[in-house]
Amino acid sequence: MKLLDDLVVILEKITKYYQDTQKVVIFRDADLLVKKGEFLGVFAPSGMGKTTLILLIAGIIKPNKGKIFVLGHEITHMNRKELAFFRRKNIGIVFQFFNLINTLTVVENVMLPMELNGINKKEAYERALKLLEYVGLKEKAHVFPAKLSGGEQQRVALARALAHNPKIILADEPTGNLDEDNKRIVFELLRDVNRQNECTIIVATHDIELASKYVSRAVKIQNKKFVEWC
Ligand SMILES: Nc1ncnc2c1ncn2[C@@H]1O[C@H](COP(=O)(O)OP(=O)(O)OP(=O)(O)O)[C@@H](O)[C@H]1O
Ligand SMILES: [Mg+2]
Repeated sequence: MKLLDDLVVILEKITKYYQDTQKVVIFRDADLLVKKGEFLGVFAPSGMGKTTLILLIAGIIKPNKGKIFVLGHEITHMNRKELAFFRRKNIGIVFQFFNLINTLTVVENVMLPMELNGINKKEAYERALKLLEYVGLKEKAHVFPAKLSGGEQQRVALARALAHNPKIILADEPTGNLDEDNKRIVFELLRDVNRQNECTIIVATHDIELASKYVSRAVKIQNKKFVEWC
């Protein structure tokens, strides 16, 4: 049981395919174990299934076969409502294209997950300002996302992902659109979060050279399975 407590994500014999005009198999009988506190890199070229993996672990899509356990809960059995609630409590997601809400200010974007979790406005506001300070953007709290650079928007997205103190952060190509300096800043922030908050991080990226300086372990996608990156 202790062993299971230390595993925050378990993929058990996962098969996932997309069926459009033809069937595209992404994973076949794939297993993956992620331990508490790991900073795991998922390294693979474009089109291999990185986003698919992030969406599976987030419960946004379901596997065709196999089971997924997150923090000891089998998410493959949960319905949409249960999944939304589970995500809101436990998981922070950083997407490649920031996904900020353009009609809300920076601080309102960061407050949103807390408000959805029932935290009162004043408390949410204060925590949001602290998080913005953490990512170096306190002075931009009251501007709209469209006025920020790509690197700044990604730091806001990270602050938002951290807002509800998630146990797991899923980051899908979080540095995809950024220049070298901003890429480093994002990875340094992720590393800080991983170390300071004992937050397990799974980062999917094709930016292998940079990411390998930060992650504690990495896997690649090969023959529709996960294989240790050496
Ligand atoms: N909803 C979908 N319907 C059909 N095929 C899809 C769907 N989503 C993804 N695919 C296909 O599945 C494969 C894996 O896609 P995925 O987005 O997981 O790759 P990726 O590794 O994240 O790529 P990238 O590095 O370009 O983001 C691709 O060939 C893609 O075209
Ligand atoms: Mg992708």
